[in-house]
Amino acid sequence: MSTLAGKHIVLGLSGGIAAFKSAELCRALVKAGVTVQVVMTQAAEHFMTAVTMQALSGRPVYTSQWDPREANNMAHINLSREADAIVVAPASADFMSKLLHGGADELLSLMCLARPLDKVPLIVAPAMNREMWNNPATQRNVALLKADGIHVLDVGQGDQACGETGDGRMLEADEILEELEAFFTPKVLASKAVLVTAGPTYEAIDPVRGITNLSSGKMGFAIARAARMAGAEVTLVAGPVHLSTPRGVTRIDVQSARQMLEQVQAHVTRAHVFVATAAVADWRPDTQAEQKIKKDGSGATPALQFVENPDILATVAQSPRALSGQLFCVGFAAESHDLLVHAKAKRIRKQVPLLVGNIGPATFGQDDNALVLVDADGVLELPHASKQKLAMQLIGQIAFRILNRVG
Ligand code: C5P
Repeated sequence: MSTLAGKHIVLGLSGGIAAFKSAELCRALVKAGVTVQVVMTQAAEHFMTAVTMQALSGRPVYTSQWDPREANNMAHINLSREADAIVVAPASADFMSKLLHGGADELLSLMCLARPLDKVPLIVAPAMNREMWNNPATQRNVALLKADGIHVLDVGQGDQACGETGDGRMLEADEILEELEAFFTPKVLASKAVLVTAGPTYEAIDPVRGITNLSSGKMGFAIARAARMAGAEVTLVAGPVHLSTPRGVTRIDVQSARQMLEQVQAHVTRAHVFVATAAVADWRPDTQAEQKIKKDGSGATPALQFVENPDILATVAQSPRALSGQLFCVGFAAESHDLLVHAKAKRIRKQVPLLVGNIGPATFGQDDNALVLVDADGVLELPHASKQKLAMQLIGQIAFRILNRVG
């Protein structure tokens, strides 16, 4: 379930061509269980109709501070008092400048000015032409808005409606949704650096063949996303997978176990948490043919010899950082049977404080899973749920253990 479920958000639209994305955002918010109250400026109505936004939000839209539907005729007060947050998307250059100076000549800016500062956060998604965005006036406004405690989201980069290319596009609806989910997630890993490995590794036999496994990377990617939402700075070292990078996560793609180890060692030096979710190949061919191995028609098969891959988790768990308690290591065990027995044994063997067990064949490639958490004190079962939900729960458990360790 989304952290947004049950929230009441006032979605404000100021004038900009990106307003079409707000229709999609509105729909996505409603789908996530949010009640959405749309407020539009007159300029916004040139780009999107109130009828569209009413149909998508399921609530009448407000466009004027003189709206007679409010018994006390104070829409700006009433609307802002019931909100968990006000999200202005698109926020035009003009609207941001108005916010900064406390302008209040129409309902949306009036409502933002009238919001209780300590209770109703204001989040804005800028949208404008690249020259407008890069103009010192806009950049100064953004800095001052941030200093005022207003959450100014990033802008996207790329083709613009005017035909130019550059910074200033409004984020896509799914990116804004992701930012809002993160906004409402408790920051249990604030100021922590988290390193995650995910996916399979690929061990080449020759330039066109190799050995890999069925890991999809979904669990590791979900953990990276959950850690970022919890406020961590996240680096994700991923084997070959077909997944998009969670927003705000630094991703490093690798192929083989040795490449994964190299990247992990390069980034673990400043990490506070290491979560080894990757299904690292235990063995690799001892040599990699430089050219494709050809059939010679005689029926002879290549004689493959294997060597053991480095154990990334065990290596990191023995590093001075881990041994001194500065780095909290979490291992995974993907088993086909006797999960608890193997998970407990693996925790001891890998010498990690927390080992997470799951049934590999049941979860590889799926969007859901069930986990058992094994530590020195015992076992905690996280029952069957989506990988996203389990990842959030696991991050909560890791944060709890770090806090209790340190404090
Ligand atoms: O030994 P096994 O592969 O079952 O251990 C699983 C755990 O160890 C996982 O956390 C996995 O990411 C990690 N591992 C590793 N390097 C290896 C093998 C496993 O980091 N070569």
